[in-house]
Formats: sequence, C-alpha cells, structure tokens
Amino acid sequence: MTAPERRADLLIQGGTAMTPNGREGIDIACRDGKIVGLGDLRAWTAAETFDARGLHILPGVIDSQVHFREPGLTHKEDIESGTRGAVLGGVTGVFEMPNTNPLTLTAADLNAKLASAAHSAWCEHAFYIGGSAVNAEHLAELENLPGCSGVKVFMGSSFGDLLADDDGVLERILRSGQRRVAIHAEDEARLKERKEIAQSSGAVRDHPVWRDVESALKATRRIVALGQKTGRLLHILHISSAEEMRFLAGHKQRVTVEALPHHLTLSAPECYERLGTLAQMNPPVRDAAHQAALWEGVRDGTVDVLGSDHAPHTLEEKAQPYPQSPSGMTGVQTLLPIMLEHVHQGRLSLERLVDLTSAGQARIFGIAGKGRIALGYDADFSVVDLQAERRIENRWIASRANWTPYDGMTVHGWPIATLIRGRVVMRDDTLMGKPAGRPMAFWGVRPHR
Ligand code: DOR
Repeated sequence: MTAPERRADLLIQGGTAMTPNGREGIDIACRDGKIVGLGDLRAWTAAETFDARGLHILPGVIDSQVHFREPGLTHKEDIESGTRGAVLGGVTGVFEMPNTNPLTLTAADLNAKLASAAHSAWCEHAFYIGGSAVNAEHLAELENLPGCSGVKVFMGSSFGDLLADDDGVLERILRSGQRRVAIHAEDEARLKERKEIAQSSGAVRDHPVWRDVESALKATRRIVALGQKTGRLLHILHISSAEEMRFLAGHKQRVTVEALPHHLTLSAPECYERLGTLAQMNPPVRDAAHQAALWEGVRDGTVDVLGSDHAPHTLEEKAQPYPQSPSGMTGVQTLLPIMLEHVHQGRLSLERLVDLTSAGQARIFGIAGKGRIALGYDADFSVVDLQAERRIENRWIASRANWTPYDGMTVHGWPIATLIRGRVVMRDDTLMGKPAGRPMAFWGVRPHR
C-alpha cells in the first residue's frame, strides 16, 4: 500500500514550474486543495494526473483590479460571467471593485457580493469596500470583514458615484484602519475645470488632454502626502504617466504601484484612431513616451503588480458620442495572453511576470496561502504554453460586453489550463465542473467561514 504522504488527488507531471527557486523541471502533487509534494514524484500514486510536458506552470494569476458590475449593472457583467472570463484567461483569483449599484459601502453590501459569489464565482475572489464621507469612520471595521480585499478610494469621478475628493475626507479615510488603501488618483477639481476641453472637442483623442498628466500627478502627490501624514500604506492604481512613475519611485517605503496591460500595450494617438471610444478609459492611455516610462517602471521594480482594470461597457454604450461614452475596457481574460506576448517580445521575463501577477499581490496585500508554488500553499496554477500562437477574438470573450480592444491580435503564449485548489477549472478553452471559487483569506484578517 502507498504511504498516505505519497498519494495525491492530482499529480502534475513533467512541466516546468515557476517556483521561488526559478524555473524547475519538477512534478507537483496536490491533495485536499494544497501543494503536498514538489520534485521527482514518479513514485507517487494519484487519482488524476495532468501531463504538463512542454508547458510552464505559473502560480495562479491574481488580478487585483476588476469591475464585475453586480449588483445593479449586470447587463454589462456579473460575477458569473466576469469570473468565467477570468478562468478562461488563466486567472485564478480576482479583487472586485466597489463602484457597483448600490456602491459597496457597508457590511451588507459586501456580504451580498460574497453570497452571490458563493454559488456563481468560477475563481477565488475578494471585494473592495469603497471609502467615502459616509463610511469613513467605519472603515477600520469594514476592511477587516472576511472576503474584503481592503478599501478603494476614487479621488476623481470615473464611472459610478463613488468619490472622495476632499483632503479632510481623505484624511478621515486614511486614519480609519490599517490595511493598504487602493487609490484611483485623478484630481476631481482639475477634471471638472477641464471637462470643457472634452465637451467642445467631442473627439476621443482629446481624452488624455482633458484628463491630463497633471490631473493624475496632482492627485498622486496629494494622497502620498496624506499617506505620510497619517502613516497609512497606499496602493496607487493604474499609473499612466512618466511623471507619476518618477515621483512614486521616491516613495516606495510606503507606497505600492500598479500598472495595466492596457497602458503597456496601447498608445495614443494610434489607439484612438483605430479603436475610437473603445480605447477610452480612466486614467487615459497616453503616448509612447509615457508607455516607455511605464515599461521602465516594470523593469526597475517601481511597479509592484499588474491589474487588468477590467471595466466592461456594452458596444451600444461605447457608441455614444464622446464624452458621454463611458470609460473602460474589458481586460481580465486578456491580461495573461497579452503579457505572455510581451514576454515573447522580450519586454519582461517570465519570472518578472510571475512577480507582477501572483507573488506581488500576495506580498503587498498579504494574501494567505497563495501566490507561490511552494509546499503547503493552495494548488492554484495558471498553466501556459509559451509556444502556442493564437489570435485573440471577440467571440472568445466571455464578458457580457462581448468585446476586447485586442480583437484580431496574434499572441505567442496562451493559458491552456486553470487550476484552483487542485481542480482543473479550465482546459483548452473549455470550462470544467461548476463555479466553486471561494473568498481569499488575508494575513491578520479573520477568514471567511
Ligand atoms: O475607465 C475606467 N472605468 N476607469 C475607472 O476607474 C472605472 C472604470 C469603470 O468602472 O468603468
């Protein structure tokens, strides 16, 4: 009889695993949802095997910024369709944003999302609580609720009604609680002052003129100063400019930084000419010089994580004349294929991609038991074929919005399987089983039951 410690529920054989040691040609044994063996495991027995020869096994990709629109705007997306897109794209976990309708401001709002996700989410998940004047004093309690990824603040209006643009309110938010606060940094007063630029032009190519670098930099400087004053840790979302990247490199003791595949892949003016309002997002896609600075931030370590900022709107909504057209693009399903193409083009290493999409999230948000291929960790994996050449097409997109800005693009490298807690959830573009994603747990926060 095989000793119990040499018996696996699932044995992943013959692949190249991206572990903390680098690239290792090892087998991975999974039991009860955890990694229980790493190495040459030919002597093990297993209920199921996964032949990973020729494939790379990444720690499960965690997308730390998605908007899934449930409740209230489920014609654009819901938790089921959003997480379905995630696992089809090789993503094993998501942090979802609070600008739904109603906004996620209370324990009841958060619990309603968790209750829906309990039967509809294909992947692991956590939800942000919105920080605003109405709940500032309750955030210390709210951010510690099970299934909460922390507090998110919109300093500038984007999509939905969530806004905290006043320094007094921002300070109250930062003084309530301890976890890292995620910030959308665009300066509301400056955006309002300059909106006329967009209104009189009516041309989406002026989106980065209206929402200019100064709008982003001003808000980033304000919140970093408030972070220093209050001693609070900050996470600045979707950095879009060279100036912010330079500024933030001087504040890495307290501040972490997110970059987006959209900003690293698309550039103005070409994207606006080709895609029109489909390329409209906040903060805007800027020109190639800014994009080069973002890549520099990826290379020099200023950037901690990538998020997709998956922000679906229907094609009909996007067809409204600018600036009535809503800002946002889908992205959760294309995050990994697009970044694998950047790896193929030599813009970053596969090791750095792992750091930006799983290890980084675990490190800066304190996700328990995820983000590493190591003994005792959850058996969440994004299995990729670096040799695959595939075309991204709208019909592959699971989002209710039904489109991607990358329709027609050929990429090298493709997620061919998604495994969550030792279960194969997606294989060869096909979903397996039923939605069984669970809330993620965080160090120092009581876990969800
Ligand atoms: O372009 C954006 N769309 N940026 C945001 O900050 C919000 C998002 C949305 O929810 O549509």
